[in-house]
Amino acid sequence: MAPIRVAVLGSTGSIGTQTLDVVTRHRDQFEVVALAAGRNVELLEEQRRTHGVATERAVAGAAETQLAELAALDDVDVVVNAVVGFAGLPVTIGALRAGKRLALANKESLIAGGPIVNKARAEGGGEIVPVDSEHSALYQCLRSGRDREVAKVIVTASGGPFRGRTHAELRDITVEQALAHPTWSMGAKITIDSSTLMNKGLEVIEAHELFGIDYDRIEVVVHPQSVVHGMVEFVDGATIAQLSMPDMRLPIGLALGAPSRLDEPFGAIDWATLSSLTFEPPDIGTFRCLGLAYAAGRAGGTAPAVLSGANEIAVDAFLQGRVAWTAIADIVDEALQIGAGPADDIADILDADASARSRARSALERLGA
Ligand SMILES: NC(=O)c1ccc[n+]([C@@H]2O[C@H](COP(=O)([O-])OP(=O)(O)OC[C@H]3O[C@@H](n4cnc5c(N)ncnc54)[C@H](OP(=O)(O)O)[C@@H]3O)[C@@H](O)[C@H]2O)c1
Repeated sequence: MAPIRVAVLGSTGSIGTQTLDVVTRHRDQFEVVALAAGRNVELLEEQRRTHGVATERAVAGAAETQLAELAALDDVDVVVNAVVGFAGLPVTIGALRAGKRLALANKESLIAGGPIVNKARAEGGGEIVPVDSEHSALYQCLRSGRDREVAKVIVTASGGPFRGRTHAELRDITVEQALAHPTWSMGAKITIDSSTLMNKGLEVIEAHELFGIDYDRIEVVVHPQSVVHGMVEFVDGATIAQLSMPDMRLPIGLALGAPSRLDEPFGAIDWATLSSLTFEPPDIGTFRCLGLAYAAGRAGGTAPAVLSGANEIAVDAFLQGRVAWTAIADIVDEALQIGAGPADDIADILDADASARSRARSALERLGA
């Protein structure tokens, strides 16, 4: 069979490089035909040469239209959206409108643009296969029953590096401490989001948009070992879980070839050494971002775009050492006061994102940052 032709957009980051690793190990099955990155021109060029990609199809700092074009190329079968943040929206929309399979790591595009992304999926005939480990787990577990038999879905959270700490203890934490994730090695933005539990909040909205499950039936459970990635409880009380050691190459490989599984075990469990799996409820009082995300998701319309846009500004400011970690939730909370408008077309999403960023910047100024 001819190899599946893959565009890896955001190829120089954590997900991008792991995707290229999977492709390199399975060259009989996959072939890279387009690449895009932000600023890391050197690594992009190295990747381009390694995979024999044409110069005009390996683009650094691409404009929005260029990203959408790369995602819609005629000879691309699967688009991996590994761009970080709202900048990934043109990739998601471009791929779905062109009827491609979208291996989606860039959760921000689906969260900010849920209604228009789903419209693009319906109109273009594209398909989304999640790369996020939790949603990949749900995607796998959901195969065990019919849609109407699903009672609820459970998204697991490691709890991040600050699990068990109080609000007072978190005021002075440093960027270095927040970047030290206990179980996963990821890009800076998602690592900070994991420390605030905003990542889990974004994933709740992602689960809602991907699987059409209402918020009352999406539960978050803290599971520090990050071995159970997601679970589905069915109406007869049966819970089906997906387990593997933390290794993103498993969900990446599945998204590239789904429904087929890769013939290489990433993250297989050694049951002789895995001693215990524990579960506890999240501390939503201390980790306020999770509650803010549920509220934005329930409000719907442009509220998730506001949540995600304001969070990007706040996380960036924290990474630059301009604000305290505890200010991230305050800034997002303030931006959400904008309220939710209709999200009928892309202009609504772009406007909401711009307003959120502007409101978040005003909050930063007031904090003296
Ligand atoms: N890392 C994980 O394990 C993980 C797990 C689940 C979900 N995700 C999601 O996957 C996405 C990527 O995360 P990551 O951890 O891989 O982030 P990352 O390591 O920071 O990589 C981000 C990638 O996006 C590129 N990029 C940034 N702005 C761009 C732009 N305007 N146009 C084109 N490319 C651009 C970067 O290029 P340069 O580096 O060249 O600037 C880099 O290749 C995020 O949405 C994250 O939430 C990640």
